[in-house]
Amino acid sequence: MIKTLSSLILFFSILSLQAQQHELTLKASESMATIQPTMYGIFFEDINFAADGGLYAEMVKNRSFEFEDPNMGWQQPQSDRFSLNKESGIANVVKTMENGPNRNYLHVMINKAAGYELINEGFRGMGVQKDARYLISFGADRGEGNIDKLIFQFIGDNDKVLGKTEVPVSDKGWKYYEATLQATATEMKAKLKITFSGNGTIDLDMISVFPEDTWKGRKKGLRKDLVQLLYDLNPGFLRFPGGCIVEGRTLARRYQWKKTVGPIEERDYLINRWNTEFSHRPTPDYFQSFGLGFFEYFQLSEDLGAEPLPILSCGMACQFNTGELVPMDELDPYIQDALDLIEFANGSFISGWGKVRADMGHPEPFNLKYIGVGNEQWGPEYIKRYKAFEAAIKAEYPDMVIVSGSGPFPDGEFFEYGMEELTKLNAEIVDEHYYRPPQWFQEHADRYDHYDRKGPKIFAGEYAAQSVAIASPDNKNNWECAMSEAAFMTGLERNADVVVMTSYAPLMAHAEGWQWTPDLIWFNNLEAYGTANYYVQKLFATNSGTDLLSITGKANKPLIGQDGLYASAVKDAESGDLIIKLVNVKADATTVSIEVKGEKIEKEGTALVLTSDKMDAVNSFETPMQVSPKEMAVSIKKNAVTAELKPHSLTVLKLKIK
Ligand code: AHR
Repeated sequence: MIKTLSSLILFFSILSLQAQQHELTLKASESMATIQPTMYGIFFEDINFAADGGLYAEMVKNRSFEFEDPNMGWQQPQSDRFSLNKESGIANVVKTMENGPNRNYLHVMINKAAGYELINEGFRGMGVQKDARYLISFGADRGEGNIDKLIFQFIGDNDKVLGKTEVPVSDKGWKYYEATLQATATEMKAKLKITFSGNGTIDLDMISVFPEDTWKGRKKGLRKDLVQLLYDLNPGFLRFPGGCIVEGRTLARRYQWKKTVGPIEERDYLINRWNTEFSHRPTPDYFQSFGLGFFEYFQLSEDLGAEPLPILSCGMACQFNTGELVPMDELDPYIQDALDLIEFANGSFISGWGKVRADMGHPEPFNLKYIGVGNEQWGPEYIKRYKAFEAAIKAEYPDMVIVSGSGPFPDGEFFEYGMEELTKLNAEIVDEHYYRPPQWFQEHADRYDHYDRKGPKIFAGEYAAQSVAIASPDNKNNWECAMSEAAFMTGLERNADVVVMTSYAPLMAHAEGWQWTPDLIWFNNLEAYGTANYYVQKLFATNSGTDLLSITGKANKPLIGQDGLYASAVKDAESGDLIIKLVNVKADATTVSIEVKGEKIEKEGTALVLTSDKMDAVNSFETPMQVSPKEMAVSIKKNAVTAELKPHSLTVLKLKIK
């Protein structure tokens, strides 16, 4: 389709040969490699409030009173639990057991209903939208007295009521109640206020508020706008649940998938390991409710059309923290977790873990093909544990593809040792991580050109350009970083015979609840936006193609930074598109003329252009599309396309085979 040319953005036209500065050749009929459908995926970790407080749409923080301080998130302004003035009433958390899921509930005693309020502050507030409907639910057990009703209100500043509903509570004995609360105004930082009708006692648990309008309308589901942003990325896989969160600071606090499935009120709670990780970004109220658990991750993968890639603890706590090791002769339960997970995902619905999945509403298998052993472990202890996992998994599931890891760095002692050992073991896919300055990404676009074609396939599992330094709170998702990643990604694509999976990290961050920056998507309680880096990922992932093509410049060489230019090219066998990604990292515009060999192409094509005049440009809640692609038309003459590449730009040219 021919789009109107925007005078502001780019000028593409048929240019005369004299104006050309770079002559490129695209070999359109020779497939150099298959681009795996998993090539561009997403890496989800519950960091930065990505799950609780983010994707998982629950609005009540500490709904089940299970945090270390079980009152966290809750206030009783009229009867502070430390004050002596408890005349109107008081609520106390009751512990039923020391460990295990759902050990606490709230015992409320009302003496003078008119004066008592129980308030939940949400995750840095609750985002409510005018006219939207919210599902209130809670468990209650009436005690002595005549409490007959709970009144739920959204409140804003100065206690302004933003919606109200009343829920009769009739029975003794635990019972679950539901009601709808419609918001009368939009407010980013609303709170939930609960008051009571009648005096006496009542026990409460699992006090919950979800928007009714969730992703796919699932009850108590995921935040629709956030999943949409993920969906729009067209991810080939979804890696979960992390990241360091897999490993835990200690083994006891590792992620254990079995504690995250089944009815939500029976799932365990865990302090989030990012709660205390960075003293410069403490997040004392960061816990994992596991409302977003392994079933939901599999379901989300299915919704996104992405291969699920669960990563499991291999019996090593985070080596940046305690590095605690499970002895080799006690590793079996960890290995069993992996085998049981495969059964949970793929097993028959009749019995065992397959039945657990079926009881949760998914009798069909999730068709799990990949499983990750360890997050970013390093050293001989990892290799020992990896071998034990590999032997056990392959013995039962020979077709399961195992993803191993080469540690946290892209080079150095840990990396080299890991790679060498995993290569000796014929590891199938090795996960590499690199958080490096933008310049590093530009300088290493040839990283995989030198990899052994007979060695393991590569999962570039976590990468992001760091504008200041790794883990610096001042890192920005600026255009310089995004453009440098784009330059590097042409190298990933050019090596698609070796690189089979890639993902930016981390994926999401709450504007007030984050610990780590940069992140691909930022959100608050009402809105979300994709960063410049998001649009780079999106341009690659929605134009991934099926076959790698050769595109070369002078002396028949691939473009890997000569004159600031980078390029890769693919064909999409289904659409008949030829897709060329071009990155110009220089401050000057440059012209390329690409001769297409081996196929005849239509006279018109399109260009998707991502650029900014300023290297420090960032998207924001105020200007979410400041750095975002613009579509342009291109014309083609004599089976060649000539295009002017903007300074500091990524251009995706799409041509049609005749
Ligand atoms: O992406 C943030 C963290 O970086 C991940 O949890 C970890 O794997 C890496 O060190």
